[in-house]
Amino acid sequence: MDYYNLMEKRMSIRDFKDWDLSEKQMEDIREHFQKGSRLIPHIDVDLVLLQKEGEKLLDGVAGYKGFLIKAPYYLLILSEDHPYAAQNAGYIGEDLVLKLSEMELDSCWVTLTDSDAVKDAVGLSSDKNVAAVIAFGYGNSLGDRTRLDIKSPSDIHVITREGHLAPKICVEDLVYLEKWGQKSDWEEDVIDDTMEKAFYGASIAPSFLNRQPYRFIYDYNRMILAVKEDELTGEHDGKLNQGIVMFHFAAVLSQWRPREVQWVMGAPDKAYGIPEEYEIAGYCEV
Ligand SMILES: Cc1cc2nc3c(=O)[nH]c(=O)nc-3n(C[C@H](O)[C@H](O)[C@H](O)COP(=O)(O)O)c2cc1C
Repeated sequence: MDYYNLMEKRMSIRDFKDWDLSEKQMEDIREHFQKGSRLIPHIDVDLVLLQKEGEKLLDGVAGYKGFLIKAPYYLLILSEDHPYAAQNAGYIGEDLVLKLSEMELDSCWVTLTDSDAVKDAVGLSSDKNVAAVIAFGYGNSLGDRTRLDIKSPSDIHVITREGHLAPKICVEDLVYLEKWGQKSDWEEDVIDDTMEKAFYGASIAPSFLNRQPYRFIYDYNRMILAVKEDELTGEHDGKLNQGIVMFHFAAVLSQWRPREVQWVMGAPDKAYGIPEEYEIAGYCEV
C-alpha cells in the first residue's frame, strides 16, 4: 500500500452519505485487519463491523462529550487486557483508516470512555475490551474544501483547499535532532528523502482534538517518541494517539525499507534530555 500518499489524502470526515457498501468491500476490510500490521503481535484482537444500526446503538456512549459522529458504518477493535492494548489498537486502527482511504472511503476516529457501556449498547458478550471505535462510509467531503479567499472587495476568489484542513505541527517543530529541543532544518546531509517522508507522515497523523501531544527525537539510527500528558486528552485517547503516530512513521519508512520498521515500547538506555512533563513511549531502530 502507498501509505505515504494515502496519509496525504486522509482527513477526518464527519458527514456521511447514506450509501451501502458491498459484501466484497466489507470482506476487504476484514481481510486487511487479519493480515494488517500489529504494534504488539501477541495481543489478541478482534474486529467488529457495525452496519446501519451502529448509529442508534452507539449514540450517547461514544464521541466527543457523547456527541456521536453519525455514520452508516462503524468498526470496533476489541482487545484482550494488556498494558499496551490501546497503543496496539491505535496502530491497527490507523492501518484500517488508511485501508479505507485506499478504498475511497472516509472515516473518523470516535472516542470512547467506557468499554462496558459500548459493549452493553451494542450487545457484545466478548470478554475482550472495546479499545477503538472508527466511523466510516462514503463522506460528503467536497463542500468542506471550497471557500472564499477574500483579499479585498474587488479581489475575491473561490479556492479549493488541498491537503490537510486540520493544522498540524510542522516537521521542524515535531522532530528534534539527537537531543531534546535541538532543531534541524533537515537538509539532505542530515537525512535521506525517505526519512523526510516518514517525518512528514508522522506530522499529519490524526490525534484526539488534533492536540498532537508528542515530539520525536531522531538519533541517526534510532527514532524516539516522547509523549506528554495533555490536559484535554484522556489517558486512553492519549495511548491511541501514540499507536496512531507510531504507525504513520513506521508505515511510511517501511515502504522503502527491506524490513518492516518495528517499534519497541518503553525507553532506551540513553538519556535525551527529555523534560519532566514528557516521557519516552517507545523507540525504533531506523
Ligand atoms: C483517539 C481519537 C479520538 C477521536 N475522537 C473523535 C470524536 O469523538 N469525534 C470527532 O469528531 N473527532 C474525533 N477524532 C478526530 C480528531 O478530532 C481529528 O483526528 C483531528 O482533529 C485532526 O484532524 P484530521 O484527522 O483531519 O487530521 C478523534 C481522533 C483520535 C485520534
